[in-house]
Amino acid sequence: MLNIALIVGSTRPNRFADRPKDWILDGAKTRTEFALQVLDLRDFKLPFFEEPMPPSFAKGVFTNPAAKAWGLRIAAADGFIALTPEYHHALPAVLKNAFESAYLEWIAKPIAFVGYGGVGAARAVENGRTVAVELQMAPIRAAVHIGLEPFLGVVRDGKKLDSYDYLNQARTAMFDQLVWWGNALKAARAAPAA
Ligand SMILES: Cc1cc2nc3c(=O)[nH]c(=O)nc-3n(C[C@H](O)[C@H](O)[C@H](O)COP(=O)(O)O)c2cc1C
Repeated sequence: MLNIALIVGSTRPNRFADRPKDWILDGAKTRTEFALQVLDLRDFKLPFFEEPMPPSFAKGVFTNPAAKAWGLRIAAADGFIALTPEYHHALPAVLKNAFESAYLEWIAKPIAFVGYGGVGAARAVENGRTVAVELQMAPIRAAVHIGLEPFLGVVRDGKKLDSYDYLNQARTAMFDQLVWWGNALKAARAAPAA
């Protein structure tokens, strides 16, 4: 059984993020290959990166207690789903900072993205993928992009994300790829040469 962490990348009051968060959790209920844990950045109170050394120089050792607690949760996961809005065509600062607040714990684990916004947060997701590569993660191809139509459908017209079949299909494809990569990389991390 894989442990997958769902990182909620918006902390602002009144955030939209809770809608897709619940929809991802709903979709995961029938999946037996992984357990999904929510890591809500609201709960971690991470400071903006303030370590005396860059993580690569410090060999991934963090001194800040909040960052240490965050790192333990990242270490416990076999893979990630990053739920992200798009803020000015990039990841929200809180999510970028969360990536910076751990180091070794990310390595050799897959990450999938669920984005929402005007163009399904496509630019933020691409931004997240480049960050993930530098952190030695494996960003997977399958993603969910909740574009303007379903975003407004939910916010303005009271629709449910579940009523969009193409989004449900994208969610399934994302879970499937995450499981394949999660199992492959879990085995690779356990191998002596890792
Ligand atoms: C600071 C800020 C920047 C934004 N920039 C973008 C953007 O570049 N592209 C986009 O599609 N939406 C953008 N939006 C609109 C967001 O898609 C929308 O507010 C969404 O609800 C944000 O997610 P959240 O409510 O979970 O925080 C921006 C919103 C904020 C607050």
